[in-house]
Amino acid sequence: EKIRVYAPATVANVACGFDIFGFAVNHPGDEVVLEKKSTPGILIKEITGDDGRLPKAVEKNTAGIAIQKYLAHIGREDQGFELSLHKDMPLGSGLGSSAASAVAGVFAANELMGRPLSQKDLLPFAMEGERVACGSAHADNVGPSLLGGFVVIRSYDPLDIIQVPVPADLYASIVHPQIEVNTKDARGILDKEISLATTITQMGNVAGLVAGLLLPDYELIGRSLVDVIIEPSRAILIPGFAEVKAAAIASGALGCSISGSGPSLFALSKGEETAQKVAKAMAAEFAALGIGSEQYVSQI
Ligand code: HSE
Repeated sequence: EKIRVYAPATVANVACGFDIFGFAVNHPGDEVVLEKKSTPGILIKEITGDDGRLPKAVEKNTAGIAIQKYLAHIGREDQGFELSLHKDMPLGSGLGSSAASAVAGVFAANELMGRPLSQKDLLPFAMEGERVACGSAHADNVGPSLLGGFVVIRSYDPLDIIQVPVPADLYASIVHPQIEVNTKDARGILDKEISLATTITQMGNVAGLVAGLLLPDYELIGRSLVDVIIEPSRAILIPGFAEVKAAAIASGALGCSISGSGPSLFALSKGEETAQKVAKAMAAEFAALGIGSEQYVSQI
């Protein structure tokens, strides 16, 4: 028995929602091919598209560890699997690469085991993949990669995750500059304490973004795509950040910020045409600094 599963890239944080907001895109993403084997243990047979950089040891691989934790939970460690992972997205890009592998892996395993758990119940195991990848089991990449669409993590303990409908014409432009940012490092530089005034500003934007998506109100979405806590610290890791963001807004984007822990930037726009224009303008700004980039445009 064998299954092929695709899990999409994701934009975590979405400006104001550090560790609590994320959305999935249509592409890029990761593909896992999982096959049952007659002996126990998980064997990572092949990884492509990673330039040989990802570990094949099960406990260090995000897909491997997610499946291992899942099998332990359902009491079926006797079931062995052979796994091939095909990465069709950049590593260390802020697009949830480690999350997509973990999600594809655990989803595939659950299907082959006859679906004993619901899709939502798979989340904690995919989160274990994140813990291995960057030391923190955040759900703002695995959540949307697993469930699709725009996702809110209202609480981590207990885990409470909600899918929020988005307006039909909402598009994301994502630009991935050819530099790498390590999530662990990008978390390490953050201020551990923030003022009440800053918290109030951020809470206003968090509430405004959810309201803007639900109403829907594109202008409100745009006004709410502001991050006064995380972005100021992380922007320094991305050369040309201010210029690229300004170019996105000047081209008609509703708002623009860092995707996950970066270095990718995302912008939201009303309509695909604007989103395409925004992506080109952002890439041109990176190019002016001598930094090559990949661009993706996707409906949310
Ligand atoms: N919320 C996480 C962070 C996402 O910003 O560190 C990492 O991809």
